[in-house]
Amino acid sequence: MFENIPQAAPDPILGLTEVYNADPNPEKINLGVGIYQDEQGKTPVLTSVKRAEDLILKQEQSKSYLPIPGSPDYAKAVQTLLFGEDSALRSEGRLFTAHTPGGTGALRVAGEFLKTKTDADTVWLTVPTWPNHGPIFQAAGMKVETFAWFNAETHSFDADAALAAIEQIPEGDVIVLHGCCHNPTGCDPTAEQWRQIAEAVSRRGLMPVMDFAYQGFATGIEEDAVGLRIVAEVCPELIICSSFSKNFGLYRERTGAVTFVTKDADTQGRLASQAKLVVRTNYSNPPSHGGSIVATIFSDQELIAQWHEDLKEMRERLNGMRSLLVSNMASLQSARDFSFVEQQRGMFSMLGLSKEQVAEMGEKHSIHMVGSSRINLAGLSTSNIERFCQALASVL
Ligand code: LMR
Repeated sequence: MFENIPQAAPDPILGLTEVYNADPNPEKINLGVGIYQDEQGKTPVLTSVKRAEDLILKQEQSKSYLPIPGSPDYAKAVQTLLFGEDSALRSEGRLFTAHTPGGTGALRVAGEFLKTKTDADTVWLTVPTWPNHGPIFQAAGMKVETFAWFNAETHSFDADAALAAIEQIPEGDVIVLHGCCHNPTGCDPTAEQWRQIAEAVSRRGLMPVMDFAYQGFATGIEEDAVGLRIVAEVCPELIICSSFSKNFGLYRERTGAVTFVTKDADTQGRLASQAKLVVRTNYSNPPSHGGSIVATIFSDQELIAQWHEDLKEMRERLNGMRSLLVSNMASLQSARDFSFVEQQRGMFSMLGLSKEQVAEMGEKHSIHMVGSSRINLAGLSTSNIERFCQALASVL
């Protein structure tokens, strides 16, 4: 039965780690998978997370199953991050949150829910987008279409093209928007542009799915939720897919959440009953540890303050690397202007290299990045930035 199974292509992002690991060059640089690294190239456990884990170890009484949507304390923490402490959506009973295995799990639950419990069957993704978006929604049985988002010449969000494209999307379809720190471009709309997008989405009768994996990596927790909150103000129904891989550094704990915003509490109750069926037939109920960490941090003001510090340190290092890349390229008198990198936010920017140039960076210089020329800024440090910029200048 297995003998005719064909070889699959390696994953465009996770597959890069294998290429990096196999590279014998001691000076190799890994700019591939979106994992935060500190100046020493380490991905440390955050101080706030370590302290929460100490508490959990002392206090945990049982390893019994969690409820299908996970713990209510975790759901409350997720909703606070999304909509603030005093959210009317919460007090009105319009939110249902389920703890999912990572942001990927959240997207998959959202896709299956939309496909099996609603009339929606087509989802629209930005060009470009995270390479796993399309396969996740396809695996959930949805058709995938794309719409314009990015101007590759100006390296910026193309509001006119995006708005014009949204006006053409058929009513009842689903649109995936990146809450902040667009992956892979690092280009986000302004608050005013978010309002225009939200109004267009609402006018067209589309279902917004907000992929929210980098909250706190652009400017701060509250600031980065501006786009999401505008969409929730304008659109009465939406879905948010959260990931805490990056902002809590919980990558391997697979800590995510899917949050449904409904028109009223009655709809929320019926929707929750159906969403729980989707979870039950997928993974039954979520793993506990990552969610306990987030909920424990949110139960203690000192831990929250520590977590904000941890997050700020990561954010400032990424922004510092952006500035260093730009100044180093300028001092090499590069023919190409890289100042756009400093305007973008989050972990990623796209350098605008051809496939051949990306290959040359990997093969000749041992600098590994995604085929689209997306780089993870966290892979750069004060000790490798010069080597990186010289290699970049040479392939240009
Ligand atoms: C990325 O875009 O690199 C991350 O979201 C990791 C992943 O799973 O692809």
